Amino acid sequence: MTITSIKGFRDVLPEESARRHVILSTSRRILEAYGFGEIELPLLEKVELFSRSVGASSDIVEKEMYAFEDRDGAVIALRPEGTASVVRAYIEGGLPRSMPVARLHYSGPMFRRERPQKGRYRQFTQIGAELLGRDDPGADAETLCLVADICTAIGVAGMRIEINSLGDAACRPAYREALAEYGRERLDQLCEDCKARLDRNPLRLLDCKQAGCRAAMADAPMMIDRLCEPCRAHHDQVLSLLAAAGVEVHANPRMVRGLDYYCRTAFEVVASGLGSQDAVGGGGRYDGLVKALGGPEVAGIGFAFGVERLELASREAAEPVAAPRILIAPIGDEAAAAALALARRLRQTGTRVEVESARRRLKAQMQRADKLGVRFVVIVGENELAQGRAMVRDLHAKQDHPSLFALDDDALAIQAVLTRLEEVS
Ligand code: HAM
Repeated sequence: MTITSIKGFRDVLPEESARRHVILSTSRRILEAYGFGEIELPLLEKVELFSRSVGASSDIVEKEMYAFEDRDGAVIALRPEGTASVVRAYIEGGLPRSMPVARLHYSGPMFRRERPQKGRYRQFTQIGAELLGRDDPGADAETLCLVADICTAIGVAGMRIEINSLGDAACRPAYREALAEYGRERLDQLCEDCKARLDRNPLRLLDCKQAGCRAAMADAPMMIDRLCEPCRAHHDQVLSLLAAAGVEVHANPRMVRGLDYYCRTAFEVVASGLGSQDAVGGGGRYDGLVKALGGPEVAGIGFAFGVERLELASREAAEPVAAPRILIAPIGDEAAAAALALARRLRQTGTRVEVESARRRLKAQMQRADKLGVRFVVIVGENELAQGRAMVRDLHAKQDHPSLFALDDDALAIQAVLTRLEEVS
């Protein structure tokens, strides 16, 4: 019996991998332009890091975490997200003193035991960034500029940034209670999950996908209408800075996010064509988190993109993977040695070269060249070996160039010959 991968865990094959690399390098370039430095974080953390930050009553911690007991009895978890680890590292590394304003970015696999579907996996990759030590609206606006710039550079189709304010410790508790009260009055219309959430996490009632809950919550009170004065002023200033910067955002008063650490600004980036899993990224402000994890009172804001979803959403815009420049077609075992040596020299200069099997017929080798889309086939047959020179078939110009260069010519000289052919047509 064949062994398959675990449900929700997937392999990334070269074509997709190449597109992911472009996404990662493009984002990294923009993150660095915004002054973010890379932080590398462990995949395993103590489980209480996530219950104290993401929230003990969040779906992520309650139902989706891969947590297990280590051999020494410690309970550890595969990280479901990166923010908690960044904050832990920030405190543990003494950054509140050495780098009071820290701009950190990270990427790598995250693990959540969700129900797999298109765009939703149990292992997925995030690109994230956290800006610690800034509580002013300028930091929120700058973060959203960064989010917009990354999506634009990657070519996310139908990109739309949705924004909300989740209030803070001054205004949220009363709102939370009002929302729970509203839900309790409609208890019989709610799904079992929402009934259970009512006391522990009533905000989640607003983003339940069940039709009954949606109808019941249609006229529910909204946080954005009940912000305290400082939260309202902060939000207004974020919006006006974004307008001045030319970043379009759309108010979504029902957005609550699935992680408990947020306060004030929360946002999501959705893309078109992804079906139900259309959030390519999300983030927000988390001013109490550093303190909650044992550090000083330091504000923070950040976001994370899902690389799998960015890849799905930008496939149309992605450049096709470049074909190799040269295919070497040796004919017969003796030619194989010359072909291998020649390919190695060319590859050492960075040229992408494929070598065909010397045991295949020239016709089959040419079919492969067509399939790959290469322009130059270097044919090394009996005659070529005898003369010590290669014949080049230019598939674009449909022209043969017998004895174009010597088999032991310098790799750069060979490339120069090919470049000249490219320039002619
Ligand atoms: P999140 O919204 O849970 O936020 O995840 C961010 C992004 O990761 C999502 O928008 C989605 O693209 C991707 N993602 C999440 N779960 C899956 C999954 N099962 N399969 C594929 N992609 C997925 C956070 O994780 C926060 N740490 C973001 C943040 C940073 N907030 C402040 N700083």
